[in-house]
Amino acid sequence: MANQTVKPADGKLGIMVVGLGAVTSTFMTGVLMVRKGLSKPVGSMIEYDKIRVGKGNDKKYLSYREVVPITELKDIVFGAWDVYPADAYRSAIYAEVLKEKDIEPVKDELEKIVPMKAAFDKNFAKRLDGDNVMEGKTRWEMVEQLRDDIRTFKEKNGCARIVVAWAASTEIYVPYFEPVHGSLAALEAAMKADDKEHIAPSMCYAYAALTEGAPFIMGAPNTTVDIPAMWELAELTKMPIAGKDFKTGQTLVKSGFAPIIGTRCLGLSGWFSTNILGNRDGLVLDEPANFHTKEVSKLSTLESILVPEKQPDLYTDYYHKVRINYYPPRNDNKEGWDNIDIFGWMGYPMQIKINFLCRDSILAAPLLLDLCLLSDLAARAGRFGIQRFLSFYLKSPMHDFTKDEVPVNHLFQQYVMLKNALREMGGYEADEEID
Ligand SMILES: NC(=O)c1ccc[n+]([C@@H]2O[C@H](COP(=O)([O-])OP(=O)(O)OC[C@H]3O[C@@H](n4cnc5c(N)ncnc54)[C@H](O)[C@@H]3O)[C@@H](O)[C@H]2O)c1
Repeated sequence: MANQTVKPADGKLGIMVVGLGAVTSTFMTGVLMVRKGLSKPVGSMIEYDKIRVGKGNDKKYLSYREVVPITELKDIVFGAWDVYPADAYRSAIYAEVLKEKDIEPVKDELEKIVPMKAAFDKNFAKRLDGDNVMEGKTRWEMVEQLRDDIRTFKEKNGCARIVVAWAASTEIYVPYFEPVHGSLAALEAAMKADDKEHIAPSMCYAYAALTEGAPFIMGAPNTTVDIPAMWELAELTKMPIAGKDFKTGQTLVKSGFAPIIGTRCLGLSGWFSTNILGNRDGLVLDEPANFHTKEVSKLSTLESILVPEKQPDLYTDYYHKVRINYYPPRNDNKEGWDNIDIFGWMGYPMQIKINFLCRDSILAAPLLLDLCLLSDLAARAGRFGIQRFLSFYLKSPMHDFTKDEVPVNHLFQQYVMLKNALREMGGYEADEEID
């Protein structure tokens, strides 16, 4: 191994997930099944991808684990919070993502994952009405209870480290509000004053995680850690943060396909994306205030790949629309359609149609695994604040918008960033060539 300074992945890693719904139960069931040798972790870059290191005759391809010390699956312990009291087994059955034959062999372990009471406010997700919630707490009391939950979980399970990830419902859109979100002092004051408008419950989880020395990952498009106050906290506590919104289906295709148009210098006049989805996520997103959060996240992808300012002839005023329709019969099996209107030589129009019949949670589970393990790695490598190298996994990658930083949405640029960060942490030279 090259000269690296990352602390070893000794001891157990507690992965505490906010939301024990379709994604989380699919993720946990999969990890437990893989651990028993009964399934394969398909889609996990950590488990399958290779990194090229060295040049000329020294060139070789190593797995991520050969480059950097990543926690082994056997050392993971799971915890969760949810608005509904169902344990991970009941949640996996309810979600109907996996067949019973893929759940039953780990039933005993799943039943032991019982969600703790949620820090929840119905105003942020009107369609949910579970009763496993902390009652009558102010925002600051929520923070204190969550900190206690994390400490107790860590001690009870003998964990050396904790990672907290949000895979709970998308909250209503909370726009950046400088007087509250602009600094850590202002954020803490607002939490103590129980400002229910500007402090989303997700912010309480993030604040609790970071102050307890745990990295925080935002898998939904919520504002949560995408504010200067949280960047300040992450810097103070020396903890990594990552977000927002798992890049799983349609946006993965978009960020992989848009570069084809861009690199060939073809023009774009419109991109219409629509979906049908019937799970609880779809139900929550059927509420316009919640959908708006998702819409902002999904729309951001194209703007930084096909940039009008750089190519006014090709990308000025293209029409970009994203829709999600709640359609119960499809449950977790989301169907996405993309209609892309492009133009070529002398402006002649052409069309591209993409129809992706995907499985939402099947695509999200390996991302959640990689994001948790790589955030834990980043913490051990002494990296803190926004982890841009994890943009590869995210629809709306965080970036310091107060300094006019732009996000990287181009899938292959993100891939190079991911690989080079791992090379750097592993003590190898960066490589600009894709491998
Ligand atoms: N599956 C994908 O492809 C994908 C991609 C990107 C983002 N996401 C996001 O991941 C999240 C999870 O998706 P899912 O399909 O598992 O949804 P889900 O509805 O099955 O599960 C979410 C769970 O979160 C719980 N919850 C809501 N608010 C909570 C709170 N404050 N505290 C604790 N628990 C809370 C709900 O009760 C629910 O059980 C959603 O926000 C979704 O938008 C999913």
